[in-house]
Amino acid sequence: MSAEGRRWAVVPAAGRGERFGGRVPKQYERILGRPVLSWTLAALLAERSIRRVVVALAEGDRRFGRLGEAGEARVQACPGGAERSISVANALESLAGAARDEDWVLVHDAARPCLRTTDLRALIDGVGRDSVGGLLAVPVGETLKRAGSNGRVDRTVPRDGLWRAMTPQMFRYGLLKRALALCIDRERNVTDEAAAIEAMGLRPRLVRGRGDNIKITHPEDRGLAAAILAARARE
Ligand code: C5P
Repeated sequence: MSAEGRRWAVVPAAGRGERFGGRVPKQYERILGRPVLSWTLAALLAERSIRRVVVALAEGDRRFGRLGEAGEARVQACPGGAERSISVANALESLAGAARDEDWVLVHDAARPCLRTTDLRALIDGVGRDSVGGLLAVPVGETLKRAGSNGRVDRTVPRDGLWRAMTPQMFRYGLLKRALALCIDRERNVTDEAAAIEAMGLRPRLVRGRGDNIKITHPEDRGLAAAILAARARE
C-alpha cells in the first residue's frame, strides 16, 4: 500500500471537559494567551499535506468562530455528538463526497495542544504503509495500581507491554467510518478510534511519540502545557 495518499484531519472538540471543571470548556482555556484549540489547529495546519481539518463542535458553540484558525480555508466545522465517537463519525460524514475510502484520516484531540511536527511526521511515516493504521503512544513508565474499595490498592498491574494511547490516530477513511458506525450501532463505548478498529479484530500499529503530547484533562495540566509550549518557543 502506498505511503502517499490523501490526508484529512478530524478534531473532536465537542466535549464539556467535566473533569477539568473550568469556566469555559477546556478547549477554549487560554495557554500563554492563546486558546487550547488554536494551538491544536495550528499544529495540524503546519502539516501541509493535510487537505482539510474538520472540527466537531458542541451545540451552541460561539467561541470557535472567534479563533483565527476558524477563517482558514483548510478548516471547516461540523456538529459534534453526545459521545466522542459520534463527534468523530459526524466529522467523517461531513467529508463524504470529498474523501475516498482509501484516504488517510488523522483524528486528534482538541485538548492536545502540544503536538510536535516531528511526532506528526513520525506517525505519517510509521503508518503510511500499514494496512490497518495506527496511533502515537508512549510506553507506561510508572507502576500501575488497580484501586479497590475505600481508596486502597487492590493490586499492582504489571506495566510490561502497556502503552498510553495518544493522538493523532491515523486510519483509512472507509475503515474508520465502518468501525465507528458498528460501535455506535452496538452502543459500544470506545474512548479512542483505535478501540473501534480493534473491535473489528484488527491490530493498530503503535508509533512511539513524545510524552509531552499531553491531553489537558485536569486543572494542573494547563500549567504543564504552558511550560511545554514556552520551552518549545525558546528551543
Ligand atoms: O473528555 P476527553 O478529554 O477524553 O475528550 C477527548 C476529546 O474528545 C476532546 O477533544 C473533546 O472535546 C472531544 N469530545 C467530543 N465530543 C464529545 C466528548 C468529547 O468531541 N461528546
